[in-house]
Amino acid sequence: MTPDFHARESDCIIAETLRARFAPGAPGVLYFDASSIGPMPADAPSRMQEVLDAGWRVARRRAWNETDWLAQPKKLGAAIAGVLGAGVDDVVVGDATTVNQFKLLHHALTVRAPRRVMVVEADVFPSNRYAAEGVAHAGHAGVRLIAGIHELPAALAAGDVAVVALSHVDYRSSTRLPMAEITAQVHDAGACVLWDLSHSAGALGIDLSGADVDFAVGCGYKYLCGGPGAPGFVYVHPRWQEGAWPAICGWMGHADTFAFEPAFRPAPGVARHLAATPAVLANTAFGAAAEVWKTVDPAWLDARHRALSESLIARIERECAGLGLELASPREHARRGGHVAYRFDGAGALAQALVEAGVVVSARKPDALRFAAHPLTATEAELGEAVARLRDILAGGRWREPRFAGPAV
Ligand SMILES: Cc1ncc(COP(=O)(O)O)c(C=O)c1O
Repeated sequence: MTPDFHARESDCIIAETLRARFAPGAPGVLYFDASSIGPMPADAPSRMQEVLDAGWRVARRRAWNETDWLAQPKKLGAAIAGVLGAGVDDVVVGDATTVNQFKLLHHALTVRAPRRVMVVEADVFPSNRYAAEGVAHAGHAGVRLIAGIHELPAALAAGDVAVVALSHVDYRSSTRLPMAEITAQVHDAGACVLWDLSHSAGALGIDLSGADVDFAVGCGYKYLCGGPGAPGFVYVHPRWQEGAWPAICGWMGHADTFAFEPAFRPAPGVARHLAATPAVLANTAFGAAAEVWKTVDPAWLDARHRALSESLIARIERECAGLGLELASPREHARRGGHVAYRFDGAGALAQALVEAGVVVSARKPDALRFAAHPLTATEAELGEAVARLRDILAGGRWREPRFAGPAV
């Protein structure tokens, strides 16, 4: 960490250069919603237009041969591998995180057979638990729920666990789990670990290889800036890439797709998990961000994110003291993820009042208000202005107005 991050000229130049690669949002609006949807790279529209025009309108089916449409899932994976601390051949982009969660849970059960238990946190992001329950319901395995990470040793004790699926960062409180330590603990019990990096990938420095992680998934549309509904990513450690078939066997995961062989043969490596035709338009938008990610140093990203988050916490502490906000995220950087959460009785209404005042934040039930600054675009000046607007809304009680009482996404 560099406590003087904002004072170092080289860091400021890097920050400015990276920020310039993104399009500004609406004038006067401050965006602290990177935990939901990251900023748009400036050249995403022209890249999309090119594919629509030269690819779809003109080349039509020939574009599959003349462009990189089929190679995009691997190329995108290689581009984001650096910020994940993964090998360039160990990541592919495709499908949504829920689908990828299902695929890798299933894959973990296959490679760790005859073990048949999946350990899942009871109040994890619901879709992750649903995916595990779906695998279990089909008769493939059983789910063992834990109330928190403190219950992990007991859950592993029977020696029957194939995979432990965990969120690196909690989507409400932003509590970050110690990846390397827990991965080692799971390995000692003979099981695999599957990390969901949705609230850390693109925000924090991550070291999947260094932590010896078996499997990981994460959203493409949050901090990774892949665009609305962007596909997620799949990481598989090289030791689990060969041998077993993927959960969903499809032609894009076949060893020789266009041979149209009647029987399935898995493609080498992680590419076998790419079941079907790539989502070209979504991948094209993601491609704009991928070009930026290739240039980002994960250590710099981590330091920048830390500096912004700590500044936000300090400003709120200074300027909003006594106004009802209570820090819900860990104060220590190493234990905190992409966003900073505050407990507030009325978080949903406050979030809506902030949005109306041009500060785009989010709330999660029951009482979490989330500020997610994007390390590649957020600035100190924006933090200052956002906290000033927050203070005004709280001090004036505006968030209590009836129009903010309804449900918000
Ligand atoms: C931690 C986490 N996991 C999984 C998902 C689900 O992602 P998807 O809808 O792309 O499957 C989300 C969505 O916000 C999430 O926050």
